[in-house]
Amino acid sequence: MARASSSSSPPSPRLLLFLLVAVAATLLPEAAALGNFTAESRGARWRSRRARRRAFENGLGRTPQMGWNSWNHFYCGINEQIIRETADALVNTGLAKLGYQYVNIDDCWAEYSRDSQGNFVPNRQTFPSGIKALADYVHAKGLKLGIYSDAGSQTCSNKMPGSLDHEEQDVKTFASWGVDYLKYDNCNDAGRSVMERYTRMSNAMKTYGKNIFFSLCEWGKENPATWAGRMGNSWRTTGDIADNWGSMTSRADENDQWAAYAGPGGWNDPDMLEVGNGGMSEAEYRSHFSIWALAKAPLLIGCDVRSMSQQTKNILSNSEVWAGPLSNNRKAVVLWNRQSYQATITAHWSNIGLAGSVAVTARDLWAHSSFAAQGQISASVAPHDCKMYVLTPN
Ligand code: GAL
Repeated sequence: MARASSSSSPPSPRLLLFLLVAVAATLLPEAAALGNFTAESRGARWRSRRARRRAFENGLGRTPQMGWNSWNHFYCGINEQIIRETADALVNTGLAKLGYQYVNIDDCWAEYSRDSQGNFVPNRQTFPSGIKALADYVHAKGLKLGIYSDAGSQTCSNKMPGSLDHEEQDVKTFASWGVDYLKYDNCNDAGRSVMERYTRMSNAMKTYGKNIFFSLCEWGKENPATWAGRMGNSWRTTGDIADNWGSMTSRADENDQWAAYAGPGGWNDPDMLEVGNGGMSEAEYRSHFSIWALAKAPLLIGCDVRSMSQQTKNILSNSEVWAGPLSNNRKAVVLWNRQSYQATITAHWSNIGLAGSVAVTARDLWAHSSFAAQGQISASVAPHDCKMYVLTPN
């Protein structure tokens, strides 16, 4: 995301007011589905095109993945009933219809040991019906099922095996169960390189998991944006998010530098959403969601959707935020107030790649209203809150 400090921001030793600008690419039809953003400079555009040429070509992830994942709310406390009820809730709340299609099981779904043939065994207490039955259930609702493993000897919980040296066998198992998505973590690496371990799984996926979305969770340690486009459909750019303002803003900042490397087929992943987990204010969750949407981050809900509040649902279901195609020179702009006091933030057209004379219709994506603007757009923004607009030249 390109940033510009606001001319109307109060003097500050640190840049605390951010103007985040998304710029649509005009060449690719995929851009119309939120595919391209930020990079205005020629160098950045070139890097972006190069990254796309190298893309992991399984045809998935033309837009960033959307769905739910168990970790941020449940950690290891999961079972098949929670997964089923979550699938039900995604449908019943209308979130599924808005695009939240992946129901992703994170760590702790399997027995500690493989069976005598070396196969994964779903945890007998918590997933007694097995993963295939769960995939069938989720598919019958029109949704997709995701699973989790690790490029090491064990997963990060140390409660189940990882897939290192079992890559082909495990991908075949996942495919036979009808799994649609694999998140692949980075613990217990047995002293072997990231490149070797993730290449092994990527190759297994190319052969046996062609229809499985591949999400690398390497935590951004070795700049995966620069190479993971060849291996999978998304890559974590940061360590784990926690449900607080400091953690969320730092994930956004760390992720920002890799914007030019993402595009249809391969996305930067600053970690899953915390919206609705209780550790941030409504304004902070609105900013979290807006910035993730603008960064074209995966939108993986991390709360308990079975019991989410209306407020949480309103944020997660703001179809305007992420459904707006940004073709035809339209711009998405977020005015984000990171100060702890009310502030006026101004985006001048020169900050966002518009000629000063251009008149636009500005759509406020949270207020759900439109107005005319020319030369600049300015708003008074509450502490930790944001305004998000799509500007359409008249
Ligand atoms: C972490 C990963 C988290 C979660 C957790 C499970 O390494 O970043 O998102 O998957 O492991 O143990």
